[in-house]
Amino acid sequence: MISKRIRKIASLIGNEESVLDIGCDHGYLAMQLRQNGNSARIICCDNKIGPLNNARKNLIAYDGIEYVLGNGAEKIAETVDTVVMSGLGYKTVIGIITASRAYFDSCGRMIIQINTCQDQLRRWLTENGFLIADEQMVYDYKYYQIMDVRKGEQKLSEMEIRYGPVLLERRDKTFISYLHDRIENRRRILREIDPANADYQKIVEQIREIESLL
Ligand SMILES: C[S@@+](CC[C@H](N)C(=O)[O-])C[C@H]1O[C@@H](n2cnc3c(N)ncnc32)[C@H](O)[C@@H]1O
Repeated sequence: MISKRIRKIASLIGNEESVLDIGCDHGYLAMQLRQNGNSARIICCDNKIGPLNNARKNLIAYDGIEYVLGNGAEKIAETVDTVVMSGLGYKTVIGIITASRAYFDSCGRMIIQINTCQDQLRRWLTENGFLIADEQMVYDYKYYQIMDVRKGEQKLSEMEIRYGPVLLERRDKTFISYLHDRIENRRRILREIDPANADYQKIVEQIREIESLL
């Protein structure tokens, strides 16, 4: 069963859009795209042979998929409509974009899903000539943020950096549940630490900030 997170990413990609999946691992994104009816070029790339071979095996029934063993986009010559980087670390994503900047500038957009440090990624992107055109939040045993990133200029407030400009604007019910979850998580920490702890007041302020968004 392909995860809800991967299905959500696939749902953001049209059937005519060519795709480069960097860090394809099992190849499930390509599988979901083909099952959705995508018939365009798909390039599955991974920097390790084991995952790339897994993708090959899992995708044996599907045509038109290319497999590239390589670091980020370094071995990719053809530009695509959409580059997906999901499940990678924040520093890895920035390293990949920086190493192949001209390539990313010539592609249509990136869909990026990282598990932590989304605020740092937003800051880096908007300081480096990218903008966040759309954001989606999906709950799949935990909350995942998916960003649709394009070339362009964008200025974000500190709140937008921390919570996401589109997520804040749209306030859909998954995002609101996420905010409640964050408050509960912080209240749990407060119950476990001494009020004299240096972090106590910081966490109280974080709770107030999140409550102000509800
Ligand atoms: C945690 S898996 C994520 C798989 C899939 N994208 C997902 O969202 O479920 C990360 C994959 O990225 C690959 N990877 C890590 N760094 C990479 C890089 N610099 N270039 C290409 N692939 C990379 C790993 O080998 C691994 O298969």
